[in-house]
Amino acid sequence: MTDTAQTQRHPAYGEILRLDELLDIACVRDDADRTLFFASHQACEIWFAVVLRHLDEARQALLDGDGIPAAEHLERLPHIMEVITNHIDILGTLAPRSFDEIRATLGTSSGFQSAQYREIEYLCGARDRRFLNISGLTEAERDRLLDRLAQKSLSSVFVEYRDSVPPASLPARRVRDALRTFDNSVRVWQERHAEVAELFLGAQRGTAGSTGAAYLRRSAARTMFPEVFPDQWRPFGGEQDRRAPALAARIPSSELPVQRRVQG
Ligand code: HEM
Repeated sequence: MTDTAQTQRHPAYGEILRLDELLDIACVRDDADRTLFFASHQACEIWFAVVLRHLDEARQALLDGDGIPAAEHLERLPHIMEVITNHIDILGTLAPRSFDEIRATLGTSSGFQSAQYREIEYLCGARDRRFLNISGLTEAERDRLLDRLAQKSLSSVFVEYRDSVPPASLPARRVRDALRTFDNSVRVWQERHAEVAELFLGAQRGTAGSTGAAYLRRSAARTMFPEVFPDQWRPFGGEQDRRAPALAARIPSSELPVQRRVQG
């Protein structure tokens, strides 16, 4: 009997996932606490890549005038942000001494240099061009960010879609709700991030040179979708910020790391 369907070998789980390669490059063979620290960051970067894929699909669906698939892509993102937030909680279990030892080996590197996270912001519509000039971005990463800026943001694409359908359109409302829920889930991540940064750093600056927890709180106060939620107002540090939303949303340069690149 030479039934190919019967004799064909099916790839095993480890082969489909390319686990040998993956674990070879993953930071999982270091000391246990360093493994926790670096593998968590790597896992988050994989999730950032997944978030970007779905944001791209949602944007394309809206460009095609299809609200429902756009909403379906967006509605899973808060669950992913919850997973990413859990990584921050995991790192919050590090002993302060262990965290300090790891931090001492980081130099100026920081999640602040995550090009994928910045791509998510730029794709959504939170477009602070000062982040193009931070140190630690490769030319390829900077080019990717410039490509994102050359595209219409998800915010603009949604506004165009919303204005092209009847005012009570259910798909448009569903997409808007999904954007709002995703936006809130990013804020929850940033607030938790700020709390853990405060736990470990107190009032110290971050490794990238920002004002650390204060910067992260400020960052949490922004909306990812300024054109969709122009009146978005978020309390910052428990105090009411009564400035115009556009001003409240802009992070003062004094809280950012010193920019080391020539302005592009
Ligand atoms: C112990 C855990 C962590 C601490 C104490 C921490 C601390 C910080 C600090 C202080 C900053 C501000 C920039 C700076 O001056 O360095 C920052 C930014 C950032 N971190 Fe973390 N971080 C932690 C975990 C993570 C993890 C697991 C990720 C996932 C990839 C991450 C991603 C980021 C990103 C994307 C930014 C930029 C945020 C923005 O600009 O709004 N961090 N982090």
